[in-house]
Amino acid sequence: MRPLCRTELIDDVTKKLFIKTYGCQMNVYDSGRMADVLAPLGYAPAQSAEEADMVILNTCHIREKAAEKVYSELGRVRRAKERKAEQGGRMIVAVAGCVAQAEGAEIMRRAPAVDMVVGPQSYHRLPEMVARITRGAGHVLETEFPVEDKFDYLPAPVSIAGPAAFLTIQEGCDKFCTFCVVPYTRGAEYSRPALAVIEEARRLVEAGARELTLLGQNVNAWHGAAPDGTNWGLGRLCRALAELDGLERIRYTTSHPRDMDDELISAHADVPQLMPYLHLPVQSGSDRVLAAMNRRHDAQSYLRLVERIRAARPDIALSSDFIVGFPGESDRDFEDTLSLVREVGYAQSFSFKYSPRPGTPGASMDAQVPDAVKSGRLEALQDLLNAQAREFHHATIGRRLSVLFEKPGRHQGQLVGRSPYLQPVHVDAPQALLGRIAEVEITGAEPHSLSGRLAELSVEAV
Ligand code: SAH
Ligand code: SF4
Ligand code: F3S
Repeated sequence: MRPLCRTELIDDVTKKLFIKTYGCQMNVYDSGRMADVLAPLGYAPAQSAEEADMVILNTCHIREKAAEKVYSELGRVRRAKERKAEQGGRMIVAVAGCVAQAEGAEIMRRAPAVDMVVGPQSYHRLPEMVARITRGAGHVLETEFPVEDKFDYLPAPVSIAGPAAFLTIQEGCDKFCTFCVVPYTRGAEYSRPALAVIEEARRLVEAGARELTLLGQNVNAWHGAAPDGTNWGLGRLCRALAELDGLERIRYTTSHPRDMDDELISAHADVPQLMPYLHLPVQSGSDRVLAAMNRRHDAQSYLRLVERIRAARPDIALSSDFIVGFPGESDRDFEDTLSLVREVGYAQSFSFKYSPRPGTPGASMDAQVPDAVKSGRLEALQDLLNAQAREFHHATIGRRLSVLFEKPGRHQGQLVGRSPYLQPVHVDAPQALLGRIAEVEITGAEPHSLSGRLAELSVEAV
């Protein structure tokens, strides 16, 4: 028999994996972990579903629209799977993420092309699930919350997509806001131990990460067993991470106002690596609505918290999420939201119409708000938020900001990076600056990005 040459061997064992990611950054991180756990089985990244041997849709259930997208995408994937079968090939189709967790059986019923459904706590079981499918097990469903900890079984990240990397340190949520599916799809709050986090951070930095965003559905509720035998909070963890050589920026998201403790606030005052940008969702400015949402804070306590954070780090930029049209929200309640926004002044924001989610208390509350009213309020709120974002952007013109360059820009010779305040900044700069931080003089502001030129010092440094 003729021996196989090396390329033939690789062709033979390399299968292609396509992962489409919806929803939050935690899903982005999870998609990376799924790729890592499947790599030893011979799966390499594919550019599209059509060329893939395995397709994973990593889904989001937060609003109705997000969940519905999955079913229309599954229609497209089914056609690709059929074409592949006509050519004698085989495609494994998997649904992962929060829709998988919430509607596993329903997915199997509505979309028979789906071979496996895997909830967020079971990604370490993917290789075994693939083996079962390959052996002809039919359909496989894993949506239990397993007793073992997936983080103990998932391989450490092997590569990073750029100098700004994500690191999940906390999962799940015990807050049970009455509009939200997360406590049901991601389960109870869980914090990874401090050493595991520090070790993963060290590896990411060795792989070239200069910025880490620590992730959690409730990231500032993180409480991890620490090497010194005590239990650390997020502020202490940030201090420990700041000691890693080569890690120049630290961010964390998403925070709950109730969990911003003094230690974390003081870290913002004296850990220079902690970036001056904080996503601190308030959802509403009306105490009545906040109580109905079970947010466990009121407008005044949020405003006082913002004052304390700004006292620690005066230049901090704040962002928030808002929901308009929660059941029972009156014009007066909505006015309270607008007043809170005016009082705080946000650099960036995300706002949504309330979407009733099956199984959450909000969905069965009386006084659901008509869609037309929600639309009107969303527009008014977004006008105000957009004006604030524009103002924030414009205020940086003429300033000198440090920019971490992440990727090539749209034009030849241009790079795009992020300012400390998370704004994308377009700059004419040499490729050699990719993955590095340089000082940039901001010269222009678009609605969603800035432009600038390298400060002289940085040009000399190249
Ligand atoms: N853990 C974060 C956010 C999780 S979901 C927190 O506590 O703030 C991200 C955002 O989606 C929420 O902040 C909220 O504004 C929005 N959201 C969640 N459920 C929603 C629903 N049912 N309808 C509309 N927006 C929703
Ligand atoms: Fe959802 Fe509230 Fe938990 Fe955030 S804190 S994930 S909004 S339940
Ligand atoms: Fe969506 Fe789940 Fe994240 S519902 S927002 S993917 S935690």
